Amino acid sequence: MSENLKSKAELEKPVTLEIEGKKFQYPTLKGTEDEKGFDISALRAQTGYITMDNGYANTSSCQSSITFLDGELGILRYRGIPIEQLAEKSNFIEVSYLLIYGHLPTQSELSQFKADITRHTLVNEDLAHLLSGFPRDAHPMAILSAATCALSTYYQDSLNPADPEQVKQNITRLMAKLPTLAAFAYKTSIGQPKIQPKNDLDYCSNFLRMMFAVPSEEYHVPKEVADALNLLLILHADHEQNCSTSTVRLVGSSAANIYASITGGICALWGPLHGGANQAVMEMLEEIHKDGGDVNKYVGLAKDKNSTFKLMGFGHRVYKNFDPRASIIKKACDQVLNKLGVNNPLLEIAKKLEEAALKDSYFIEKKLYPNVDFYSGIIYSALNIPVNMFTVMFAMGRLPGWIAHWKEMTENTSTKIGRPRQIYTGPTKTDYTPISQRRGK
Ligand code: CMC
Repeated sequence: MSENLKSKAELEKPVTLEIEGKKFQYPTLKGTEDEKGFDISALRAQTGYITMDNGYANTSSCQSSITFLDGELGILRYRGIPIEQLAEKSNFIEVSYLLIYGHLPTQSELSQFKADITRHTLVNEDLAHLLSGFPRDAHPMAILSAATCALSTYYQDSLNPADPEQVKQNITRLMAKLPTLAAFAYKTSIGQPKIQPKNDLDYCSNFLRMMFAVPSEEYHVPKEVADALNLLLILHADHEQNCSTSTVRLVGSSAANIYASITGGICALWGPLHGGANQAVMEMLEEIHKDGGDVNKYVGLAKDKNSTFKLMGFGHRVYKNFDPRASIIKKACDQVLNKLGVNNPLLEIAKKLEEAALKDSYFIEKKLYPNVDFYSGIIYSALNIPVNMFTVMFAMGRLPGWIAHWKEMTENTSTKIGRPRQIYTGPTKTDYTPISQRRGK
């Protein structure tokens, strides 16, 4: 085990594994919140065995000091600070600094961070033109991932992951330009001119203006709308080793540059089992609404082994209790819709669906609760964000988390390239058959 591992987690007594009658000892580790594990780095060399862990449900891929999550107790903390406190007292830029640099910024650190981000919001005109080459109905996640990767082509002189100054510059560029690219992707999809950033606005207001302003009219961002977006971005900012963050780490472990690594995360997030669930939830609620609003029918379908229907926005790999983010969003939903005077029948359907599922023995036994995506779409809709942009909003929120993990990984001298093994189940040695002798299947 490396020195780095030893210095971070407390060492405990080793565990003993018995394999083919022989005993082997493996060092155990305990994290600061008592998470226990044992280090099997030497397993294959010592025993010839590897482990099999479907979906990595029992595998710790790294040690991390960014985010703590207790799925049984429904706890989420960024750098030790409870999500409830951050949601109430902080803002997305401060939370981003906290995640990326490890502490709450002082006033001067925060001012500098904001100023740097604000100065870099423009994107190169050639890149902006590239976005116009996509078909009108292209999914904005495809555009966002392509544009994020393309950013690397404009900064080829500063892509070295081992140079802290270059890394800092790229962090600023990503934080600054992702909202611009996201808004440009939307404008492209509706055929409107792109709206350039306006640097006297805060992060969320600037994004909303780029989304909704048109050059022919003045546009003022309503404060309630910017505040609601700020809350959603904070709640999405990090979630430890989820699918997209693990992807960012895996891509980055090959020493790929930060733009390529974040692009990998955006693509992983797109899937409906991960960040794409917010879009899928709205589509499901629409379907239930159009079908007469019978939520019990859909709870029944979700339980039916012969149906592929799942209750989107329900269940989580780690949370076996209420997702604390979902609880905050549910409360915010009522407040935001009230403030904006929006009456969305899908909110009522969502509440009824949640109530029916939480009373149902299938959902109780399997510990399936609403997750972050269950109510977020209803707020996004109230902010006039179109459904196919929901996952883009998630990506904007998750960006500082991805950056923080990429940075933590690249700064850790014990990081190795991510390269799992497999249990091979294909044919054993088979001779090549000339084409004239092949019979086909
Ligand atoms: N509806 C119906 N049944 C479900 C659901 C659901 N939403 N989620 C899990 N189950 C069942 C599942 O069929 C399985 O049953 P069985 O034991 O009989 O095979 C059992 O519960 C355990 O589920 P799993 O699929 O083995 O759990 P997992 O940890 O592999 O998957 C999940 C977690 C989030 C992918 C899954 O719960 C799911 O597909 N949920 C719907 C999609 C969703 O809302 N995703 C967003 C996740 S939170 C935000 C994020 O990460 O981006």
